Amino acid sequence: MTTPTPLRLKDCPDWLYLLREFDVLYRHGSAGGSPAIRAHRKVVRDRLSAAMARNPEMIEREGMRKPVSAHLPRALDLGERAAMQGMARALREVKDALTWEYGYERISKSLAQKYAYCEILGPQGPVHCENLILGFVLFAPNTTYPQHSHKEIEESYISISGAWSENNAAVFAPGSLILNRPGDEHRITTGDHDPCLLAYAWAGPEARLSNPEMKLTRTRRASSEQG
Ligand SMILES: [Fe+2]
Repeated sequence: MTTPTPLRLKDCPDWLYLLREFDVLYRHGSAGGSPAIRAHRKVVRDRLSAAMARNPEMIEREGMRKPVSAHLPRALDLGERAAMQGMARALREVKDALTWEYGYERISKSLAQKYAYCEILGPQGPVHCENLILGFVLFAPNTTYPQHSHKEIEESYISISGAWSENNAAVFAPGSLILNRPGDEHRITTGDHDPCLLAYAWAGPEARLSNPEMKLTRTRRASSEQG
């Protein structure tokens, strides 16, 4: 018996086209005049280009659903009608293979119904990369994602569909990019009627990306939501 040859990125056009959508966003979008955002965009696109040029192995994972997955069709419909339609269409092509997960050891019952994320590229795959994680986070309508921060990881969110707010500071529409630097505390709320789908990028040291130790901050609000 021969061992099957592992698939590589170029054998999987749906994943390749989805990564090209990320590449376009981080290459051609605006930094809005912010040096920090400009530097972050460059790190993401350089690491992504290097990963794509390596034609990495695909890590096979079973698709996984979470209760919030039931909101994905509506999120994709809305995404296909708005500024990020290329990304929404490319994501639809791989929707059954997505691995929706929570990332936290403990999560409240209400958050478990309304939140999950899936990775597209990173140390766990499906597209293997050690120094960058790309993925999507999905929220049901009317969700509060409690306060948290990320050690050594710089995070950007790009809005694909739905409306959301970070730290009650502004409301973001499809196409917006938000940067959270390492240690920046952030809390997300989503609109009342529609789900919210965000693409995200995490750049950081390899050891941290393979073990991000996701933890919600123990504010009074977060501890009342644990359970
Ligand atoms: Fe975050």
